Amino acid sequence: MDENTIICRCSDVTLKQIRELISQGYTTYDEIKRLTRIGMGPCQGKTCGQLVLREIANATGRNIADLSFHNIRPPVVGVKLHLVAEEAENNEE
Ligand code: FES
Repeated sequence: MDENTIICRCSDVTLKQIRELISQGYTTYDEIKRLTRIGMGPCQGKTCGQLVLREIANATGRNIADLSFHNIRPPVVGVKLHLVAEEAENNEE
């Protein structure tokens, strides 16, 4: 894969940036997330999360199943405010 490949399209992070951070010793998902904002975009890391974990696993020789991923907190998709307001009104009745 070309190092200029965008790994996290929500935050515009390239494979090269991820590999540089790993080579500097940042070998956990959370560390890389805090430094680059991967996983913090609208998709919540659905696209980039596994790619970053794979890079960490390849670079460190660890099993990808043993690496921790961040917690995904709801809402995981955009929610229109009128739906929230309607639900609140329904609960008041
Ligand atoms: S692609 Fe990384 S948070 Fe969406």
